[in-house]
Amino acid sequence: MKTYSIALIPGDGIGKDVTAAAWAVLQAAASKHNFNLEGTTFPWSCEHYKQTGAMMPEDGIETLRTFDAIYLGAVGWPAEVPDAVSLHGLLLPIRKAFIQYANIRPHRLLPGITGPLRAQGFDILCIRENTEGEYSGAGGRVHSGTSDEIAVETAIFTRKGVERIVRFGFDRARARRGKLASVTKSNAQKYTMVFWDEVTRDVAREYPDVEVSHYHIDAMAARMVMAPESLDVVVASNLFGDILTDLGAAIQGGLGFAASANINPDRTAPSMFEPVHGSAPDIAHLNIANPIAAIWSGAMMLEHLGEADASRDVMGAIEAITARGIGTAPGKDRTGVITDAVLAAMV
Ligand code: NAD
Ligand code: IPM
Ligand code: MN
Repeated sequence: MKTYSIALIPGDGIGKDVTAAAWAVLQAAASKHNFNLEGTTFPWSCEHYKQTGAMMPEDGIETLRTFDAIYLGAVGWPAEVPDAVSLHGLLLPIRKAFIQYANIRPHRLLPGITGPLRAQGFDILCIRENTEGEYSGAGGRVHSGTSDEIAVETAIFTRKGVERIVRFGFDRARARRGKLASVTKSNAQKYTMVFWDEVTRDVAREYPDVEVSHYHIDAMAARMVMAPESLDVVVASNLFGDILTDLGAAIQGGLGFAASANINPDRTAPSMFEPVHGSAPDIAHLNIANPIAAIWSGAMMLEHLGEADASRDVMGAIEAITARGIGTAPGKDRTGVITDAVLAAMV
């Protein structure tokens, strides 16, 4: 029987609850489809930081490298550890070190969910650049604490980095409805975003069968609300993709429904799967976190591992329960109720 080794990082807050839910469903899918998922749990979190002074050990990346995939709940507990410390100490270095340059985030309505817009029939695949751009971490502050203080954060875009994410988007568009929307702010950002537009136009020549549109981020935000059905694949930089995918989550009914896969397309290192949402301190410990986003992310992991039937089975179970009105609105059903319903629908 095939065995896949999975590194589990439940993290903080509701990350722990939704990871437990997703793992139970993934285990059920594995036994039904005759493969093993061997999980190793790492307690790397803000709690771990408080105990050890680090979000993960020094050899954390090397430890993770040996796994077939990484599954992460959510990281962050801003009341006790600054976000810039926790996220730059765990989540962001993993995405970068393992060259998970394609962050895939699907936005569509599950059956039984109308969403705040009452829009019908949208199916957007957001492809977010995940290793550079505005998240490069380059910058600094001078004249700290004085009235002359200056803070600089430099967005770094490389031709290699932009080319590969745009090409990834074109490939996905070609396999879907043949439309690609590239998102920039090249009217205001005259170096990085004009560069992104140029690279996109160059790559587009290789895909004459894909219809390309260019949008500014502000106009795209409005379009996602006003005409989401007009969009197919949306490609955006790290920060713009981050913002647009919380918007995408909102139009699909809330953050409890938005799944995400951090993919290393060349498979030179493990990919990582996690919901779009964070640790939700406001609802942590209440057992009302919706685990659907996390379970859907798990289905994306199964697909990546080559277990397409099991992945479809998990998605089918999610769709079967939302069609019956289970887990369709924030706080409506408890985490355990939703998880048990998905498990029952898998049988
Ligand atoms: P958040 O996504 O944690 O929460 C935003 C809102 O959505 C909250 O009201 C929350 O209750 C709700 N929500 C989120 N997930 C939900 C779910 N599954 N079911 C029901 N409601 C849900 O964003 P935030 O409050 O900005 O961030 C909290 C912490 O999480 C911060 O430390 C932040 O940096 C971190 N964060 C981590 C990740 C990650 O690890 N991938 C992602 C986003 C935010
Ligand atoms: C996400 C999160 C992270 C990001 C934060 C927590 C650094 O918001 O995965 O969407 O911005 O990438
Ligand atoms: Mn985000």
